[in-house]
Amino acid sequence: MHGFHAVYLKDRGQDACTFCHETPMYRGFHADAALECDDCHGDMTTHASSLLLSEKDEGKEQSDKYLRILAPGEEVTPRRPWTQEPSCTACHENFEAPYELNAPNNWNEEEASLYRLNVDDTGMVPCAACHSAPHAIYPAISDTDNIQPLQYMDDVRTIGGGNCAVCHDMEMDYPAHHPGMGVE
Ligand code: HEC
Ligand code: HEC
Ligand code: HEC
Ligand code: HEC
Ligand code: HEC
Repeated sequence: MHGFHAVYLKDRGQDACTFCHETPMYRGFHADAALECDDCHGDMTTHASSLLLSEKDEGKEQSDKYLRILAPGEEVTPRRPWTQEPSCTACHENFEAPYELNAPNNWNEEEASLYRLNVDDTGMVPCAACHSAPHAIYPAISDTDNIQPLQYMDDVRTIGGGNCAVCHDMEMDYPAHHPGMGVE
């Protein structure tokens, strides 16, 4: 799907993706901060070539046909579909605000570290329990996507942001879930 179409959709940034994937799917804080699909997934050439390279490793000869036309640079890293995707900490090193946008080609290595399946440092709480779906990160653009923080904290921040009491009934004084998580 991506390999064949990439040949015709070079150098179009996010527009290449939205021919097929509709933009309303992407509506979290990152969209508000003007990040586009290719900032995380790579442009059409990178996105498609990463898949073709892993298929080539698995011995699929057809992939070479497209790779020759797409001619990806050396920096493109092979990626298996659905189980290797952009990684949050590629940009948010040590869970800090990003100083460099570095997501494409830094895919999660193990399936278990896919955002959807990953848990925090306590090993107990999924990332998505506090931050929501990958394309609808709190605070999302529309309050339709902020119902949980609004219901539990009367605020549109990340669950637990400035309010550990949303889950704990004792005062919590160190950021056990991950570094950088505020305790104020
Ligand atoms: C020609 C239509 C088309 C275009 C253009 C397209 N996609 Fe897709 N995409 C699909 C379809 C269809 C699937 C589901 C494929 C499947 O089930 O195997 C898919 C699956 C995916 C997946 C999940 C599989 C994987 O690769 O991990 C991601 C992520 C994705 N697309 C991102 C993008 C991004 C980012 C762009 C732009 C750079 C893009 N797509 C452009 C049609 C398209
Ligand atoms: C801030 C980074 C970021 C941006 C920007 C982004 N994505 Fe994603 N996307 C992700 C992550 C992370 C995942 C993996 C989610 C998971 O763990 O299942 C993902 C998964 C996907 C999938 C697979 C869906 C699934 O259920 O697994 C598709 C398709 C996709 N993205 C398309 C897009 C398109 C199209 C855009 C732009 C309109 C976009 N993404 C913008 C980070 C991003
Ligand atoms: C392409 C780089 C990139 C990736 C990948 C990325 N982010 Fe971000 N993220 C940003 C940028 C840029 C901002 C905005 C920084 C600012 O405005 O201060 C941001 C802001 C945030 C914020 C702050 C929201 C607030 O209230 O201020 C959270 C939380 C966040 N990201 C979580 C995530 C999670 C979870 C993932 C993985 C699903 C992720 N990010 C992936 C670049 C990225
Ligand atoms: C118990 C809730 C909770 C869990 C679980 C959690 N986080 Fe966070 N995270 C927070 C809070 C709270 C902040 C600070 C945001 C705020 O104060 O609004 C934060 C901040 C971040 C930031 C920094 C954003 C910025 O720009 O400052 C990133 C990135 C992030 N988390 C990613 C993740 C990832 C990836 C996981 C899973 C491995 C995860 N978080 C698990 C609550 C959580
Ligand atoms: C979404 C619910 C949730 C939120 C919000 C939350 N926590 Fe937790 N926290 C948990 C769970 C679940 C555990 C694990 C409890 C256990 O070990 O039985 C935990 C454990 C902890 C621990 C003990 C870790 C250990 O190693 O024993 C500390 C400290 C902590 N949290 C601090 C915080 C702080 C600080 C905040 C607010 C910034 C916060 N938590 C917000 C759910 C949450």
